[in-house]
Amino acid sequence: MVRIAVLASGRGSNLLAMIDAIQRGELGACIVGVFSDKAASGALAHARAAGIHAVHVDPKTCSTRADFDCALFRAVDDCMPDLIVCAGFMRILSPEVVAARVARIINIHPSLLPNYPGLHTHQRAIAAGDIEHGASVHVVIPALDAGPVIAQTHLMIAANDTAESLAARLLPHEHRLLLQVLRWFAEGRLRFDADHIHFDEHKLTAPLRVD
Ligand code: GRF
Repeated sequence: MVRIAVLASGRGSNLLAMIDAIQRGELGACIVGVFSDKAASGALAHARAAGIHAVHVDPKTCSTRADFDCALFRAVDDCMPDLIVCAGFMRILSPEVVAARVARIINIHPSLLPNYPGLHTHQRAIAAGDIEHGASVHVVIPALDAGPVIAQTHLMIAANDTAESLAARLLPHEHRLLLQVLRWFAEGRLRFDADHIHFDEHKLTAPLRVD
């Protein structure tokens, strides 16, 4: 059984999708801990409601980003995860902690990377006049939102879309995307490092599509 740790700062809908899939028997994994920088995050509440180890690491008690990352990953490492999933974790991890775990952290990002790393992705896609938007699951490397992309989901932008409507329409696709990537990982079909992704023993030349 694949052991997953989840880092999340916000409402935790991706976490909830994982918990539901595991409970329905649709994902052969177990969530060994949920970690958040926000005490009031929905993610911690969902974890507690499901009886999952839930840890708040308070940035205010740490003097530097490196101190926070040390405290966070001490708690994460204690759970011995095979995979660490960033699902709406809104802090940038220091290069050292990422470099030490480079083939073990993935992130879900709401854009078709390499387009729109960083924040406000929906607004930026609309402002650019894009016809298509989407989300990516990628390997986390020290550079922000820049690791190899494992898989993407695509969505057409509607003429009347706002950042809010686009984000809301994309969210269920994000959940499907993340769950599919986790299933492939749990089934042993997906391997990756800082440079390459292998799917069914073939090196990927483009991200997988989950549409
Ligand atoms: C998602 O849109 C994800 O792509 C982004 O942050 C959001 C997290 O949503 N990184 P939730 O907290 O899982 O509901």
